[in-house]
Amino acid sequence: MYTTGQSIIVSGGSRGLGLHMVTQLLEAGNKVATFARSYTKEVGALSEKYGDSFYFAPLDAVDVNGVTAFVNAVCDKFDGQLDSVVNNAAIGQDQLLMHTDPETIQQIVNINIVGPTLLTRIAIKRMLLQGSGNICNISSICGSRGYAGLSVYAGSKGYLDAMMRALAREVGEAGIFVNCVAPGFFESEMSSVLRPEQLDTIKRRTPSGKLSNDENIFKVVDLVISGTTNMQGQVVFVDGGITS
Ligand SMILES: NC(=O)c1ccc[n+]([C@@H]2O[C@H](COP(=O)([O-])OP(=O)(O)OC[C@H]3O[C@@H](n4cnc5c(N)ncnc54)[C@H](OP(=O)(O)O)[C@@H]3O)[C@@H](O)[C@H]2O)c1
Repeated sequence: MYTTGQSIIVSGGSRGLGLHMVTQLLEAGNKVATFARSYTKEVGALSEKYGDSFYFAPLDAVDVNGVTAFVNAVCDKFDGQLDSVVNNAAIGQDQLLMHTDPETIQQIVNINIVGPTLLTRIAIKRMLLQGSGNICNISSICGSRGYAGLSVYAGSKGYLDAMMRALAREVGEAGIFVNCVAPGFFESEMSSVLRPEQLDTIKRRTPSGKLSNDENIFKVVDLVISGTTNMQGQVVFVDGGITS
């Protein structure tokens, strides 16, 4: 583990990759706060195990006042410090654009674009005062490569990549590092819409012959937010080479 002793926010930590990252970061001696719309039994178990080092609030990523209050509460709880933010919360899509209704398009844009932008905006205000910080967006290979049925989702991830590059230039001189980690498909509730034969095809086309798992992705996030790399404004792919 590279990241320890930090105060960290991971959005969407109630299940999937977010839950894995929260669990590993707590285990490594960090203080970790997360939010999601629903409370899960895994979140309850973390509260019990880690006490004051862990903070969870039920929150929708698009609730501007709620996100502001959350960041303020985290800073109060964690002695005013906010070292890293991992923008992980997102929703998927599994429909051709012509079948995707306008409400769904709006929802993907709100959760996957507006949500992380709001959280980042509030976080960097804190980080600018500190003169240090790390922002890591969980993007996707879809942000750089085309996949049918994922056009709006792909657009939202391409936005994160582009926003990250511009923001790195805005805040880099102030000691804030902004990067994206872009996984290929991995097993989770989000990717459960893929049929076994689709997963087999993806594996066949992947040079490493296997899908990434939560730990593969976390290992890269851990390095990116550790503040030890001087990596700035980059999209790092964790995909077994399918985009190579
Ligand atoms: N799975 C893949 O194949 C894959 C591939 C590449 C990239 N990614 C990216 O990896 C990240 C994690 O994906 P995952 O597969 O672990 O997804 P997941 O299992 O569906 O988990 C998503 C998390 O985000 C939370 N969330 C969703 N909408 C939210 C909202 N409006 N407000 C607050 N929290 C919200 C969910 O909790 P609630 O629903 O309770 O709010 C949950 O905790 C995402 O950014 C995803 O785009 C996934």
